[in-house]
Amino acid sequence: MLSEVLLLSAPGKVILHGEHAVVHGKVALAVALNLRTFLRLQPHSNGKVCLNLPNIGVKRAWDVARLQLQDTSFLEQGNAAAPTPEQVEKLKEVAGFPEDGANPECLAVLAFLYLYLSICRKQRALPSLDITVWSQLPTGAGLGSSAAYSVCMATALLTACEEIPNPRKDGESASRWTGEDLELINKWAFQGERMIHGNPSGVDNAVSTWGGVVRFQQGKISSLKRPPALRILLTNTKVPRSTKALVASVQSRLLKFPEIVSPLLTSINAISLECERMLGEMEAAPAPEHYLVLEELIDMNQHHLNALGVGHASLDQLCQVTMAHGLHSKLTGAGGGGCGITLLRPDLEQPEVEATKQALTDCGFDCWETSIGAPGISVHSAASLDAPVRQALDGL
Ligand code: MEV
Repeated sequence: MLSEVLLLSAPGKVILHGEHAVVHGKVALAVALNLRTFLRLQPHSNGKVCLNLPNIGVKRAWDVARLQLQDTSFLEQGNAAAPTPEQVEKLKEVAGFPEDGANPECLAVLAFLYLYLSICRKQRALPSLDITVWSQLPTGAGLGSSAAYSVCMATALLTACEEIPNPRKDGESASRWTGEDLELINKWAFQGERMIHGNPSGVDNAVSTWGGVVRFQQGKISSLKRPPALRILLTNTKVPRSTKALVASVQSRLLKFPEIVSPLLTSINAISLECERMLGEMEAAPAPEHYLVLEELIDMNQHHLNALGVGHASLDQLCQVTMAHGLHSKLTGAGGGGCGITLLRPDLEQPEVEATKQALTDCGFDCWETSIGAPGISVHSAASLDAPVRQALDGL
């Protein structure tokens, strides 16, 4: 068992193209964001397992001995399937939640219990741990906060149970795991995501695990080798929405109008492929024409997403405001509110960027400029973390 404190972080993501279509087997292109979720794991011998999630006001503790006595044998059935409604009910009982407990706080706790009981089940005794997770990512905004949470949690528990090594043992300040370790982390993180979202494609946990720019299709993941340094404006409309409900609404529209919706998904797939081709060409020599194509792709995809029914008045407003400044935007993630991205061409003067940001802020949106392609799951030394992150993890 791990004996020292473990500090981890995993990035959020934006989807460039392919949200929703990816749930139906199409290609998505996703990039890791330089906004991260941090986890601190402290091994104990006090017979308790404690979970602190300061962003959403969760502070829970369980007696390890009581958890050990619960009948959670169903967790040994294998890892391929999503947790069944019966299993979720059983875990709610273990957590002491009412039957209707399906809010973000409950789901975060259930995902933790699911991963803790499943990953640690091979241990002779369940470990005593104190885990704190704090995030720079807004929740429910489409930036992959639940995936970053699941990736951190899966990594922490796999490391605590020595299923994967602790790369910091070799004394480096921030290192990575092998490809095989990352596969295992991603597999378990996907189970956490399933607990939270029901039927996710797996793209969010993949990009949070590997970082950079990821192409994802039906669980097949590849990284773009040398993607161009795209600048984007990220805007949070602050309109809350549920990924699970939006994914279900696209599914029912597909069932209702297969002849109409299926070609939309095929077209979104083609947009992802064309974007991938452009990014490939830009590796060698980015030119203004490439940005014009990327802008056209953004516009077309935004219209398709509206046709799928996952748009929102706030996202229309975001597109109109940025268009007034000559910039192109689309929703990112599940839509229905949440976040949008705006491509910033390299020739754009900073005052124009500032004016656009101001116009978006005046709409009541949060808006920040960001670069894309951050590293995936990482391990840290305490000294390498910024003071605000350390304080948040220490509960100060
Ligand atoms: C959510 O970030 C992206 C969706 O495509 C859902 C998924 O892929 O699981 C809407």
